[in-house]
Amino acid sequence: MTDYVDSYSAREAQRLHDQAHTLSALLHDDTRYAPGSRVLEVACGVGAQTAILLRNSPGVRLTSIDIAHGSLVQARAQARAQGAGEPRFCRCDLYAPPYADAAFDHLFLCFVLEHLADPPRALRGLLRVLKPGGTCTVIEGDHGSCYFHPHTAAAQRAWDCLIRVQAALGGDSLIGRRLYPLLRAAGLRELAVSPRNVYCDAGRPAWMDGFVMKTIIPMVEGVREAALAGGLIDADTWAQGIADLHATGRAPQGTFCYTFFKGVGRK
Ligand SMILES: C[S@@+](CC[C@H](N)C(=O)[O-])C[C@H]1O[C@@H](n2cnc3c(N)ncnc32)[C@H](O)[C@@H]1O
Repeated sequence: MTDYVDSYSAREAQRLHDQAHTLSALLHDDTRYAPGSRVLEVACGVGAQTAILLRNSPGVRLTSIDIAHGSLVQARAQARAQGAGEPRFCRCDLYAPPYADAAFDHLFLCFVLEHLADPPRALRGLLRVLKPGGTCTVIEGDHGSCYFHPHTAAAQRAWDCLIRVQAALGGDSLIGRRLYPLLRAAGLRELAVSPRNVYCDAGRPAWMDGFVMKTIIPMVEGVREAALAGGLIDADTWAQGIADLHATGRAPQGTFCYTFFKGVGRK
């Protein structure tokens, strides 16, 4: 995952924070851990979800890991500024977490399996450090769940670049629909996966701004160089596609839909 070995650009870090803020209620409100419980946050990045975990579960004993040193530095600074608790941060590879068997009561993963070449192997390694009876929560998107208005061929081409670039990097941005079979094959029981639908229109200006403008469009724009270099799209179609995607986030005509998937199971 060379694209993640380095820390994020300031722009991408801001996008991850905007994304977490906008999606907080939809994705996180039903995740609460008891004070004192040992939670492993896997692939914390710049700490966007760390902040939410600390806010929603006061008194939790949180350990947050990531492979990118620069992101961990940002995550630590942000947790300090928030003042809601000081997680332990550790730089390590999630495929081989450096903890004893059953060291944690709960595992929490958000937007990471989609980037991995081998999610089943990752889950095997991570579940080793979860105690029997502990819970594993996984949140992922599915870029195939996206539809929008006005729909244009150029906008769809630009969007599809996101899926193809991630696939070329060894990931799977369509992983949301695979969450249940993946978690089940990993051995989780009492498993429940729920779709979390985002719907944006002019009557929901906070969603239009926070999701379409600040989360989705910057995410697509982030693959521009890779898409052009890989010959997936030409520069003119790309520019048109991005302009058309902006129109889906503009009042009064734009609408945008996307589905996240959240799975919770017990070891
Ligand atoms: C899209 S970010 C998500 C960050 C955070 N969970 C969030 O939702 O804001 C994916 C993260 O996975 C991390 N990552 C990727 N491969 C990893 C690995 N093998 N071990 C640990 N972290 C990894 C990256 O460094 C990056 O911070």
